[in-house]
Amino acid sequence: MSPADPHPDVRPDSVARRDWWKSAVVYQVYPRSFADSDGDGVGDLGGILDHLDHLELLGVDVVWLSPVYRSPMVDNGYDISDYHDVDPLFGTLEQLEELIAQLHARDMKLVMDLVVNHTSSAHAWFAESRSSTDNPKRDWYWWRSPRPGHEPGSPGSEPTNWGSAFSGPAWTYDDHTGEYYLHVFAPDQPDLNWENPEVRQAVYAMMRDWLDRGVDGFRMDVINVISKVVGPVGDDGRVTLPDGVLGGERDPRWPGVVDTVSFADTPAFVLNGPRVHEFLQEMHREVFTDRPPGLLIVGETPGCSVGEAVLYTDPSRGELDMVFQFEHVDLDSGPKGKWDVLRMTMLQLKQSLGRWQDGLAEVGWNSLYLGNHDQPRCVSRFGSDAPEHREQSAKALATVLHMHRGTPYVYQGDELGTSNAGFTRLEQLRDVESLNHYATAVARGEDPADVLRALAYKGRDNARVPMSWDASPGAGFTTGTPWLDLHPLSGSVNAAAQVEDPNSAFSHYRRLIALRHAEPCVAHGTFRMLLADHEQLYCFERSFGDTRLLVVANLSSAADVVPDLSELAAWSSAEPLIASVPGSSPPPPTRSPPGSPGSSVWPDRAVWEPLWAPSARPSRR
Ligand code: NOJ
Repeated sequence: MSPADPHPDVRPDSVARRDWWKSAVVYQVYPRSFADSDGDGVGDLGGILDHLDHLELLGVDVVWLSPVYRSPMVDNGYDISDYHDVDPLFGTLEQLEELIAQLHARDMKLVMDLVVNHTSSAHAWFAESRSSTDNPKRDWYWWRSPRPGHEPGSPGSEPTNWGSAFSGPAWTYDDHTGEYYLHVFAPDQPDLNWENPEVRQAVYAMMRDWLDRGVDGFRMDVINVISKVVGPVGDDGRVTLPDGVLGGERDPRWPGVVDTVSFADTPAFVLNGPRVHEFLQEMHREVFTDRPPGLLIVGETPGCSVGEAVLYTDPSRGELDMVFQFEHVDLDSGPKGKWDVLRMTMLQLKQSLGRWQDGLAEVGWNSLYLGNHDQPRCVSRFGSDAPEHREQSAKALATVLHMHRGTPYVYQGDELGTSNAGFTRLEQLRDVESLNHYATAVARGEDPADVLRALAYKGRDNARVPMSWDASPGAGFTTGTPWLDLHPLSGSVNAAAQVEDPNSAFSHYRRLIALRHAEPCVAHGTFRMLLADHEQLYCFERSFGDTRLLVVANLSSAADVVPDLSELAAWSSAEPLIASVPGSSPPPPTRSPPGSPGSSVWPDRAVWEPLWAPSARPSRR
C-alpha cells in the first residue's frame, strides 16, 4: 500500500474516528494513592493536577480516574453516596473541572469510573428506599422478605442463599421495615434494581451530565452484574429470586470469595444476566448515540467468556467498546476461590491471553491489563520481584502486554516496575475485602498465618500503596502520615530516579507507548502466537499490510536450556525496534541456533516464579 493510499484505519483523521482508542494507551489513577497535595495522607485531585507532567511525559492518551465522588469510603469510593459531587477528601468539583480542562489542554482524555450496579447505603436514593415499604423508591433496590419459617435476621433467613463477593451473605436485614436488601458486595453497597426503568433513566441522566461536563467516557464497574436472574412474580407482587444449589463447585467465572458450603453459586444469578445486553444497548442509545466521536466506553466484566465479550464489544450492537475480562487474573485461584492460591505457569498465561487475542480477532476488542487497584502488582504475580530480576521482569511484561492487539492499561506505578508491598501484618491492611476475608476465614478455623500469606500475595492493598515519587521520607506522596504504608522500596524505586534514565522501566514504557502511536501495526495488526507450547518464551507476530513485527520475550531466569528457535529463523535479518535492556539493541545471544534472529535465550528453571530476563524485543522485518 503506498503512503498516498493509507489503510482506512490509519488515515490522518483516525483520531476522530470512533475507534481512536485502538492506538491509545490508558493510565489508571487510583486517586487515594496517587499524590497528596494537602498533607492529610490521602491522595487527592490537587495531587493529580501537580503530576500531569508525569503522565504527559509517559505519553498516555487517556486517564481513567477511579471514583472521586462523595462516598463514605467503605470500599474506597466504589460506594458512592452522591454521583454529582466530589468527596471533600479528594477536593472539589472545580478541581475536577480543572483536571478535565488541563488534560484536554495536554491532548489527554478523562474517563470517569461509573459505579452503578450499586450505590452506597448512604446514598439519598437508598435512604428513601429504606424509609418504608411503600416509598416510591422502594423498588429501586432489591428488598425481599425473610425466608418463611425462619426468625427474621437470623442466619438462614436470608431471602436467597447467595453469597457476597466480600464474604458472608449477599443480604442484610433491615429491622426498620423487616426486610432484607441485596448487596453483591459489602452491606454498605446495596444493589440497584435495574429491572426498574426509573433507576435506569436516573443513571442515564447522571451519565449525560458528566459527558456535558466534558468527561470522555466511562469505565463501568462490574457492569455485567446489573441484570439478575429473576423468577416469576411472587405473592408479594415482586419478582422472585431463586436459590442456588449448596455444596457445589466454585464457579470459576467468579474471582471473589465464594464459600460454597454456606452459599450457593452466586455468579450464576448475577453475572451476564438475561437482560444485560438489552440494558447496555438502551444505555448506549440514551447516553452515547449522537455524541461526537472521541468517547471511550469500557466495561468491567468479571466472569465474561470470549463469546460474551464479542457480544459486548461488537460495534454493530452498540454496547461497549471493550471489556476487562478476568480469565488471566483468575488463573491462580483454586477451587475455593481467590484466596485459595494456586501456582500458575507462564504457559497458562500465554494460552489464556492468546485465546482472547484469537477470540476477538474479527469482531470486538481487547482491553489489555495485568494489574489494577483490585489485583496484586503484575511484576510480583506474573514475573519476578526478586531484586536481581524485578526491573527487567517489569519491562518484559510491559513489552508483551503493550504489543498485543488491544488497548493497554497502565496501572499507576507499574511504569516504575513497582512490586507488591507484601504486607505481613493485619494492622497494615486497609481493604474491606481483605479485612472481611481475614475475619471470616479465621472464624472458620483457618490458620491466621496462612490467611495473611495469601493476603500478602493477592490482597488489593498491594496495588494501593502510595505512589513513590521520590526518595524523601513521604516518598513525595505526602508530607503527612500516609493512609497506607509506603512501599518498602520507595527510596530506590521511584519516579524521580527513573524519568531521566533512558534504561529505566519508565523509559521503556515510554518507548512502548510511543511505538503504539507511531506504528499502525501495533494498533491494528493481526496477532499470531509463535512457539505456542514454549514454557519460557512468549513470542508472537503482528502483521499489518506489508509490515510484520516480532515480539520475543523470555519469561524465565535460568540460563541452561536452549529452546528450538527454528520457527523464528525467517527473522534473522530483523531490525530491532525496542529492547528491554540497557542500550538500544538487544543483548548478544547466549546460545542460539544458526539463522535465528539473534534471540537471546535465558531459559526457565521452573514454571512458577518465572523470572524474566532481558530479551523482550519487537522487531520489524
Ligand atoms: C470492582 C471494583 O474495581 C472494585 O474495586 C470494587 O470493590 C468492586 N467493583 C465493587 O464496586
